[in-house]
Amino acid sequence: MKITVVGAGNVGATCADVIAHKELANEVILIDIKEGLAEGKSLDMWQTAPVNYYNTRVVGYTNQYEPTAGSDVVVITSGLPRKPGMSRDDLIATNAGIVRTVTENIIKYSPDAKIIVVSNPLDVMTYCAYLTAQVDSSRVMGMAGILDTARYRAFLASELNVSPKDIQAMLLGGHGDTMVPLPRYTTVSGIPVTELIDEEPLNAIVERTKKGGGELVNLMGTSAWYAPGAAAAQMVEAIVRDQKRIFPVCTWLTGQYGLSDIYLGVPVVLGKNGIEKIIELKLNDAEMALVNQSAKAVREVMSVLDNMNAKAAE
Ligand code: LAC
Repeated sequence: MKITVVGAGNVGATCADVIAHKELANEVILIDIKEGLAEGKSLDMWQTAPVNYYNTRVVGYTNQYEPTAGSDVVVITSGLPRKPGMSRDDLIATNAGIVRTVTENIIKYSPDAKIIVVSNPLDVMTYCAYLTAQVDSSRVMGMAGILDTARYRAFLASELNVSPKDIQAMLLGGHGDTMVPLPRYTTVSGIPVTELIDEEPLNAIVERTKKGGGELVNLMGTSAWYAPGAAAAQMVEAIVRDQKRIFPVCTWLTGQYGLSDIYLGVPVVLGKNGIEKIIELKLNDAEMALVNQSAKAVREVMSVLDNMNAKAAE
């Protein structure tokens, strides 16, 4: 098993570190365009192996794709992170160019890889990778839902003073302020969350979740990495161990939820073939309206990318 992580910034390096700790592959290749960065971080990680007791060999390269050849899973984290005051969508032009180049290189050397995109704006960068890779959509997906539900679950665990392990939740929509956490599909060890918390604090947690990324950007002056990196590694784990886990994943829709030709977060079964099934929940009208609103917001950014591509093709 071989895994490549493109981008040795905070998110990529954290993802590679978690993958190594979990021994998800014999070999992890870390790539960055900044001279020496991936080599340095990989060497530093490898030097934790004797202490943390794992075998996975992490090796870094500067902008070199030959060593990634034959990767089973590739995580793309490249791109500029958000700065305070910037929305995820502001990043589109710069990051689309980066994601396109990276995807071309990845597919050239690993034509059978499953691709997990983490770059922002997430839903549209996943779409960009899909357009570039020209492979089945079951193999090109975006990581957002695990991160967003993790934030939601962590906030609930603090509020209820219970273990985050016992909080299960589902969330739909784009990775932006229109994301749709679903209290009706949130349980605490099987107990509907609404039996344990009043509507007002629950709504406050839902709202905080939607702005969860921005809260961290404001605190740190750059975007988060521990939870995004760990969340991407959890998707890698589900694929390489063929776990058939059910996660919210940014997925190409072909009529599910009444939506098509869009990348949007929905529950899927994740296994060795990538997205093995898309699960359609029986949403009520209010929930569906929120999902449609989120889809509309994602389509607006997708059309920015489509227009850029059309201009480039002229
Ligand atoms: C966040 C960025 C990584 O949500 O999108 O923290």
